[in-house]
Amino acid sequence: MNVRWQQVSVLAGKRILLIIGGGISAYKSLELIRRLSESGASVTPILTYAGEEFVTPLSVSALAGQKVHRTLFHYDDEVEMGHIQLSRASDLIVVAPATADLMAKMAAGMANDLATTVILATDTPVLLAPAMNVRMWAHPATRRNHATLIDDGIECVGPNDGDMACGEYGCGRMAEPTEIIAAIERRFSDRRLTGRRIVVTSGSTHESIDPVRYIANRSSGAQGSAIATELARRGADVVFITGPAAVLPQGKVERIEVETAREMAIAVDRALPSDVGIFVAAVADWRLTSVANSKIKKHAGQVPVLELTENPDILKTVSRKEKDRPRLIVGFAAETANIEMNARKKLEQKGCDWIIANDVSSEVGVMGGSRNKVIFMSSTETEYWPCMEKTAVARRLVDRIATALDD
Ligand code: C5P
Repeated sequence: MNVRWQQVSVLAGKRILLIIGGGISAYKSLELIRRLSESGASVTPILTYAGEEFVTPLSVSALAGQKVHRTLFHYDDEVEMGHIQLSRASDLIVVAPATADLMAKMAAGMANDLATTVILATDTPVLLAPAMNVRMWAHPATRRNHATLIDDGIECVGPNDGDMACGEYGCGRMAEPTEIIAAIERRFSDRRLTGRRIVVTSGSTHESIDPVRYIANRSSGAQGSAIATELARRGADVVFITGPAAVLPQGKVERIEVETAREMAIAVDRALPSDVGIFVAAVADWRLTSVANSKIKKHAGQVPVLELTENPDILKTVSRKEKDRPRLIVGFAAETANIEMNARKKLEQKGCDWIIANDVSSEVGVMGGSRNKVIFMSSTETEYWPCMEKTAVARRLVDRIATALDD
């Protein structure tokens, strides 16, 4: 047995699903398979119909040492490994070459062949190596699709400048196999958060009025879940404390479910000490001074008066702790007006290290939606992040956290 790669390569044992699109640079994908296999990764290939025009299924399967998946509707394939299972049974999906057509279909969320269906059905990260004619790459439609895919959290390596097979010169050459391997290695080697304990609050809280009624808010838990999922993927020990929420994280996280702000405060306190605290939950600021034991009866012409009292401010309490304060504390500021000014005030009042501010006015659709446009703030910086998928916000934030803990 060759044990050398087991000691040196982060790719050893990794499962790569490689989609080969229809472009002249498909020949480089054969070299990519060879190098990945040599590094100890297993490569499951999917060849598109157009890809078959450039490389043969036989050469792909011979190099990968596995059968090539080619069609969406194939009785044997569906029995052995259906396309949904195929989309999940990998650590990374690599599309090389990613043609203009494949990128357009991905950006539009189309699923009309095996490759695009697998990509749409997956929860595995996707890496693209675009390759196309220089004018196709420069075309506004491809620019738009590229930007959409980046916002969707998809990573691209290349294309590069150079002479093209069609005789033109410019940007559009597929990245070399060594560059694609380096990008794949980078993904797998970012394990800086391994062993870091990170507490994340998410979702809303419900504050009872009586046994059947409560005060709530529109938080879906999508942003908090995306952050917890990304942290877990990078090896952190995540304690995820959630109020009622529609969205929950994937992967290995310790989940603690609570209902009220006071329960959340207790759960957070118990989860400390931790290296990082990320407070994404939309915690109710107030609860009822006293909760009715039985359902409040309706009487014609009378409206009950609800007396409210302040809930504990979890973020502020943890940020001001003298003992067991996490080294890095991130708060979120949901604002509907004067976002930047209010968020900066909040950073100071709460005493946290960073604030992620966003506009949650109803016309923006952040609450309950899948995208978010945030302002990142620390005591010295203000950064305007473009509108992107909440998963992309999570990746960017987690990158920053990993870097901050390294310092
Ligand atoms: O004060 P405001 O609710 O706008 O602050 C938002 C930030 O404070 C969020 O990070 C939220 O999770 C946190 N928060 C908290 N406890 C509260 C209210 C807000 O931890 N009672």
